[in-house]
Amino acid sequence: MRDKTETFLALKAGILAGGGEKKVGKQHSLGKMTARERIATLFDASSFVETDMFVKHRCTYFGMDRTEIPGEGVVTGYGAIDGRLAYVFAQDFTVLGGTLGEMHASKVCKILELALKTGAPVIGINDSGGARIQEAVDAMRGYGDIFYRNTIASGVIPQISVIMGPCAGGATYSPALTDFIFMVDKTSHMFITGPQVIRAVTGEDVAVDALGGPMTHNSVSGVAHFVYPDEATCLAGVRKLIGFLPASNRELPPFVEPSDAADRLCTDLETLLPDSSNRTYDMKKILASVADHHDFFEVQPWYAQNIITGFARVGGRTAGIIANQPQVMAGCIDINASDKAARFISICDSYNVPLLSFVDVPGFMPGTAQEYGGIIRHGAKLLYAYSEASVPKVTVIVRKAYGGAYIAMCSRHLGADMVLAWPTAEIAVMGAEGAANIIFRHEIESAKNPEETRQNKIDEYVAEFSNPWQAAGRGYVDDVIEPAETRKRVASALRMLESKRESRPAKKHGNFPV
Ligand code: HXC
Repeated sequence: MRDKTETFLALKAGILAGGGEKKVGKQHSLGKMTARERIATLFDASSFVETDMFVKHRCTYFGMDRTEIPGEGVVTGYGAIDGRLAYVFAQDFTVLGGTLGEMHASKVCKILELALKTGAPVIGINDSGGARIQEAVDAMRGYGDIFYRNTIASGVIPQISVIMGPCAGGATYSPALTDFIFMVDKTSHMFITGPQVIRAVTGEDVAVDALGGPMTHNSVSGVAHFVYPDEATCLAGVRKLIGFLPASNRELPPFVEPSDAADRLCTDLETLLPDSSNRTYDMKKILASVADHHDFFEVQPWYAQNIITGFARVGGRTAGIIANQPQVMAGCIDINASDKAARFISICDSYNVPLLSFVDVPGFMPGTAQEYGGIIRHGAKLLYAYSEASVPKVTVIVRKAYGGAYIAMCSRHLGADMVLAWPTAEIAVMGAEGAANIIFRHEIESAKNPEETRQNKIDEYVAEFSNPWQAAGRGYVDDVIEPAETRKRVASALRMLESKRESRPAKKHGNFPV
């Protein structure tokens, strides 16, 4: 018996050593952890249980029958994050470049299936040379099997991808099918085709980092959601994100009793808005003021900064926040902002996270670039996502809420359950100047003093419409509140709406505009 145990322990030690000292040393020299070190950092201490350690490949081509691949180049298992169950698969670059073959893929699929059956999040840590070339079509099939399971699990269990090395070609589509993508400065890259292929096919010369580095995907392409300076802070970010989400769509997000009183007054908001509505201010100050402990966790902070998305707790309850940012493009909604917000809303709705929208929007972005780029179909995503969402929807109109953008930003008409407006709200078809120029054009043109008449008409329009009273008079706004009461009223609304249940007509699925 002792012999067998010793053989087993030696086998296990060999597998735990991964690709060996030299490969581990190279990994460390690049500022990267090994797969098991990453897992130990991600999970609560001593909570991780590894599965499928002894799985072996069965490839025989190109000498592979004589090649040992410890753990098949991927570490899988489960553990706890802040005491809550979560699953992980972490590709081990020290073992044949973390490449994916048939059995590597089957370990990943098994974890996805287990997570789906038990209803808990999956974190996939990607660090791989891609499809294991020697395994040919079996490797490709492996990717297909993972994409299929990512899709089936979508909206059921949170899926988080962490890119901590190369992620190229078809391999990028697994992260793209998940809910959130984290990247690390300098060491992570994602691209469909690398610099050499691009040079050969299109003649373009581009460096790896500019092509698929973290800032490219966080600020330009919108593929990624987070970037961190190193792996430890990145994994801490994953833990924080998980804390806002339920384990699956069968649960509500965890309630975390705050020491910050739910009825705390936000006195800083009384003087935040400038006197002129053409001047800007930082919407993030409102979000921080309203959040428990001023803690707003922004999602995609570098992309489409004219709209802000992220999580916070208000009175202990998670809310998914969507807010216009007047400091960027005056808060106009463009193609990228529509895509960013629509995706975020859809994720929140999937996982029972209430939507909290802060509105200060002059309209959709004008221009040929936007029209040719399809602002109509992209903007439609925002309307669709808000309308489709059946979670509690609370909207606070801070200042401008004009025209189609007023409707799009979770108005009563798209199913908001509670619409609050500050006294500074301007709910109208458009800004006063544009409106006066259109409806009073004849009067202005024929007046003795057109400029004075124009100004009078603008003032008349402002007095009549640039306020919340028309909308409140129709009940489109439920209440006009003092800015300082915002946190208190939002917390109350989220509490009141917690038992909201709203069904939709039976259908296979809606036809989401793309
Ligand atoms: C088999 C591979 C491999 C691969 C790397 N290795 N990629 N083995 N198949 N795809 C092996 C290397 O031979 C080496 O083995 C070890 O992994 C580490 O790789 P290095 O090249 O030494 O590391 P590094 O210098 O850091 O370069 C990493 C790399 C490079 C940039 C990822 O290895 C590379 O370009 N690999 C090929 C990437 C690629 O084209 N993949 C296919 C993408 S297409 P030893 O024995 O020396 O340790 C794809 C299709 C998916 O994935 C289809 C889905 C539908």
